[in-house]
Amino acid sequence: MDFETLKRECLACRRCGLCETRRHVVFGQGVETAEVMFVGEGPGEHEDELGQPFVGRSGQLLDHYLEAVDLDRNKNIFIANIVKCRPPQNRDPAPEESAACLPWLRTQFSLIRPKIVVCLGRIAAQQLISHDFSVTKDHGKFFQKQQTLFMATLHPAALLRNPRSKPSAFGDFVALREKILEVCDHTYET
Ligand code: URA
Repeated sequence: MDFETLKRECLACRRCGLCETRRHVVFGQGVETAEVMFVGEGPGEHEDELGQPFVGRSGQLLDHYLEAVDLDRNKNIFIANIVKCRPPQNRDPAPEESAACLPWLRTQFSLIRPKIVVCLGRIAAQQLISHDFSVTKDHGKFFQKQQTLFMATLHPAALLRNPRSKPSAFGDFVALREKILEVCDHTYET
């Protein structure tokens, strides 16, 4: 399957109940050949309205951290979510919603083939790294799974609620930059 076909099919998805209340499927945004992918939890109100990931206040904060380490959703990364439709009232995605949606993300991984996946927050880390993952304890550490390195950092919405965690999140982005320089080929070229 190619990326355009995947996107077209995903935008028409009715695999779980979130399709009844969504305004847009948030497929993801960025570069199809990215070596680094970021995965959040699920669209919020602004993302649902615009059909793009991380466009609200937490997205602005995320873009700020990305810029600090020369990453940019229009140039060298791809951003997606565990669930592609907004859970009503921004509740956590239900297990059956994540399970129904994950094959879309898995296909995105298999087409993009990122070298590094950064989980934004607990929900993504527990789905993609391990079910009992503690972001507080294990943020910023890299875990090799098959051919891919996974790391989790604090969710930007958590940083907005608790600004005292910002220095540790920034440390994760600095560690990410070091890892990119070590294992990626073209993320920082030009
Ligand atoms: N929070 C997320 O986890 N994902 C988004 O796309 C926006 C906010």
